[in-house]
Amino acid sequence: MAQTLTVRDDRTGKEYTLPIEDGALRATELSRIKTGPDDGGLVSYDPGFVNTASCKSKVTYIDGDRGILRYRGYPIEELAEKSTYLETAYLIVKGELPTTSHLAMWQHNITMHTMVHESLKNFMQGFRYDAHPMGMLVGTVGALSTFYPDARDVMDLESRRVQTRRLIGKMPTIAAFAYRNSRGLPYVYPDNDLSYTGNFLAMLFKMTELKYKPNPVLEQALDLLFILHADHEQNCSSTAARVVGSALADPYSVVAAAAAALSGPRHGGANEEVVHMLRQIGSTKNIPDLIKQVKAGERRLMGFGHRVYKNYDPRAKIIKEAAYQVFEVTGKSPLIDVALELEKIALDDEYFVKRRLYPNVDFYSGIIYDAMGFPVEMFPVLFAIPRTSGWMAQWAEMVLDEEQRIARPKQVYTGHAERAYLPLDARRDVGPSETEVSGSL
Ligand code: ACO
Repeated sequence: MAQTLTVRDDRTGKEYTLPIEDGALRATELSRIKTGPDDGGLVSYDPGFVNTASCKSKVTYIDGDRGILRYRGYPIEELAEKSTYLETAYLIVKGELPTTSHLAMWQHNITMHTMVHESLKNFMQGFRYDAHPMGMLVGTVGALSTFYPDARDVMDLESRRVQTRRLIGKMPTIAAFAYRNSRGLPYVYPDNDLSYTGNFLAMLFKMTELKYKPNPVLEQALDLLFILHADHEQNCSSTAARVVGSALADPYSVVAAAAAALSGPRHGGANEEVVHMLRQIGSTKNIPDLIKQVKAGERRLMGFGHRVYKNYDPRAKIIKEAAYQVFEVTGKSPLIDVALELEKIALDDEYFVKRRLYPNVDFYSGIIYDAMGFPVEMFPVLFAIPRTSGWMAQWAEMVLDEEQRIARPKQVYTGHAERAYLPLDARRDVGPSETEVSGSL
């Protein structure tokens, strides 16, 4: 089969044969299609990158129609059952599962970096008592770059490796400090005898006891959630990481930018909205009313639908099962019955079936976090911790990709043609509606 696309430009009658590579057409090939020498050539217009591949990647594979997610080729279901977050993070950033000795070394190297500089702690204490933990996380991760000027040497492999270990190691510490700040509690230093998630739970919830003993079920459930959130190919925050990284900014600035993207309600903030929605529904008898509102286009069913998955999100399936293990420790969340009934009704309803709207990762994760005692503002922070390994893998891949250049998309200009500057006293005094340009501030 010929790996080419032949198109005819009806404006000029000319035909072009464009090469297809890995199922993709290079957008620069379109620039050959011109109406004349003054024409800059055709561009592709794709707001929101709905059908544009911005890179080649070996990290994560998703088949949204079939509900498949794999990190470096390994199905998410197998990793969820057999791996740990730190092992999965190794797989994601290095490309292969570690041997026993490499895993031990990796765990040691991450654990060594859980402490933060006292000045960073003082920096965090400068936030207001009611600062949003995600805002604290974004600001503090950005500030880390001032502590590690060597991080600017992004072309140096050893530098990239050490910043990766530092970031994966320090994210739980910064996240826990942000939580403690919101509760007016003293910060708890890392306990490196504990596992990655055990230590995180200790830094969050330790009170006066000398040694915090994490509940093994909750420690494992959090580890599982971290595996499921570790990467998701070219989503909004990974794209932000790649775009900022393409200017060769240091990795702390890259991760701060990615976390800023994640903080938005269309991305990492959706699980918070699910919990608000379920609380608002309150009882299963109120579900039909909600469904009516959704179908009338008055609101969206939060935690449903996905740009890529047009099938059940495989992560949602795993989280749904894990929820019951968590409830054995925390007690059953009253939100779960509403969520289950809502899912059942929605999956039977023609509106959702026709649009292929299924529960996504956020539908059940918020219920678990809520049952574990996390306030909703912490939900995006809990997402950012494990996603750091994905961001670092995507960033490193971009830095080494010889085809990548500084990210700089084109635009389709729809503004004024050239016009002469009018002196101030020659401008007419008009009402705001005449001076407002659509899309301006
Ligand atoms: N509830 C009701 N209807 C929906 C929903 C929903 N949750 N999601 C999509 N639809 C409908 C739209 O109204 C639209 O219908 P129409 O064709 O009649 O106009 C159709 O399904 C397609 O929706 P789009 O918005 O075009 O889909 P898109 O791929 O742009 O959006 C998104 C995906 C943002 C996730 C959307 O499904 C949504 O808003 N879901 C709720 C928020 C959510 O759960 N976000 C978390 C995503 S997972 C993550 O980021 C970690």
